Amino acid sequence: AKRVRIHHLRELKQRGEAWPMLTAYDMYTAELFDEAGIPVLLVGDSAANNVYGYDTSLPITVDEMIPLVRSVTRSVKRALVVADLPFGSYQLSPEQALATAVRMMKEGRAHAVKLEGGAAFAPHVKAITTAGVPVMGHIGFTPQSEHNLGGYRVQGRGEAADVLLEDALALQAAGAFSVVMEMVPAEAAKRVTHELEIPTVGIGAGPDCDAQVLVWQDMMGLRRGKAPRFVKRYADLAGVMKGAVEQFASEVREREFPAPEHVFH
Ligand code: KIV
Ligand code: NA
Repeated sequence: AKRVRIHHLRELKQRGEAWPMLTAYDMYTAELFDEAGIPVLLVGDSAANNVYGYDTSLPITVDEMIPLVRSVTRSVKRALVVADLPFGSYQLSPEQALATAVRMMKEGRAHAVKLEGGAAFAPHVKAITTAGVPVMGHIGFTPQSEHNLGGYRVQGRGEAADVLLEDALALQAAGAFSVVMEMVPAEAAKRVTHELEIPTVGIGAGPDCDAQVLVWQDMMGLRRGKAPRFVKRYADLAGVMKGAVEQFASEVREREFPAPEHVFH
């Protein structure tokens, strides 16, 4: 199968075809999602919450991200793999942003990087794309800024919708190949999607974005507890896994496992 390239995503937008994107942080998920035809996989800094057990995305480091990125890029044949730049690894300067992007490409073998922020980060995006690395933007609710945004709240309501559009246009002008919009009103996301030539990827941004992304542990029901409104659970992996573990434990205790067919003589 032919590799997904950034120009393919723009062609999908031109044809009005919506595309799915999922996070992936390891080999089996990457293989499976790639085989299922997911064109873009994101090694998100949400690995902080979903792999490393932190309570926010802020603590994860580039050194913690790179092995995950490498395992995902090794495991796909077709998908475009985007690696998130974690908090603190790009905000200091466009030079720092480029240096971190280079590490994600060389050490992680990523195909593109993603960073959070609007017009203020256009110079950072420009520095990276000028060096030949595709960049995905991320605006609206940006988890790395949760303390400054006052928690998980919808962004881009009212007059802030104009700022959202300006930010998106600035990222496009800086060379971004796509922009994620997280937790923004559907009407605002629709307007941005219409105004941009590059594809928008929504998460909690309504049905009119060019693409939709979810964190895989959320959409598969592996992460438990109350999920945000924008999450749809397509499976109950936590239930499936808990059931299997309990059965294994019980069969060991009852000496039902291993059975004759599992035994060498
Ligand atoms: O880290 C992540 O999973 C993300 C997506 C939710 C867009 O940035
Ligand atoms: Na992220």
